[in-house]
Amino acid sequence: MRYAIQAQGLAKHYGETRALDGVDLEVPQGRLLGVLGPNGAGKTTAVRILATLLRPDGGRAQVGGFDVVKQAHQVRSLIGLTGQYAAVDETLTGVENLVMIGRLLDMTRADARRRAAELLERFDLTDAGGRATKTYSGGMRRRLDLAASLIGRPQVLFLDEPTTGLDPRSRTELWGVVRGLQSDGVTVLLTTQYLEEADQLADDIVVFDHGKVIAAGTSDELKATTGGQVLEVRPAETAHLDLVARVVGDILDLAPTVSGGMVRAGVRDPAVVPAIVRRLDDLGVIAAELSLRKSSLDEVFLALTGHAAEEKAQPAEVAA
Ligand SMILES: Nc1ncnc2c1ncn2[C@@H]1O[C@H](COP(=O)(O)OP(=O)(O)O)[C@@H](O)[C@H]1O
Ligand SMILES: [Mg+2]
Repeated sequence: MRYAIQAQGLAKHYGETRALDGVDLEVPQGRLLGVLGPNGAGKTTAVRILATLLRPDGGRAQVGGFDVVKQAHQVRSLIGLTGQYAAVDETLTGVENLVMIGRLLDMTRADARRRAAELLERFDLTDAGGRATKTYSGGMRRRLDLAASLIGRPQVLFLDEPTTGLDPRSRTELWGVVRGLQSDGVTVLLTTQYLEEADQLADDIVVFDHGKVIAAGTSDELKATTGGQVLEVRPAETAHLDLVARVVGDILDLAPTVSGGMVRAGVRDPAVVPAIVRRLDDLGVIAAELSLRKSSLDEVFLALTGHAAEEKAQPAEVAA
């Protein structure tokens, strides 16, 4: 089987809201697909349908070759799911949480204990394993939650905004854990509002906006489709800013942006850069900084959607 996850024309409506409006997806086995989109884009709806928790109104999806509606039971035996809000029992210890899940999955007590110890070790929770999880930090809870979703050795894992609300350090730690999963050959679908996260972890990225896939590709492909590179020029004298903006604008035939003492413009053909340098030189303008870099995913998202990607997470998302 080539694809671990496939979806064709997935749709889900809530009254007037088109939470999903005809989504196609394909995730090859062992790869990590990043589903990137702002709040309300339809990410959780897609995950819940693929994880058999919600029926689509239209379209079809298969996980591990099984239909998520007609063969939900087989799908469930293959998958693990970690949501945006950690689902551990606060009053139990880390070990007890994991063993309980193992027992629910029909493991013997000894097997469940062994698996729990193995996962706690892997996620750096061995010392905390005997403590009630209500004493855990946010980052520890997310790691325990991820460990819980791995007890049954899923082939396909859904991570719905696993790092939303985490501090930067806990986020980096979780990224390390997610990278480790890929070396196990687990297929992962990870949703995120963070462009950097998709850039760091995903083999392939699809961008969701208003229930639709508005772009797809590798991070580099996405960067290349929307202007490719960004030219930045900082004149040594701020009095020259307007002049630099005019030169850059003339040669690239577009209006650059000017902010923080820097002139910025998207460049499709880097061959024009020497012409800009020569012209500035002729005019006696000295550039304190002049660089050409790949556009960031932020810039890509803005170019694709006309609005920024990172919106504040809503305080509560109701899980039915
Ligand atoms: N149970 C529901 N009832 C009504 N509207 C919903 C429900 N679930 C999601 N929606 C709406 O569908 C859209 C997509 O939501 P969601 O899939 O949660 O997006 P995301 O996970 O990308 O933030 C949003 O407009 C949301 O308000
Ligand atoms: Mg969501």
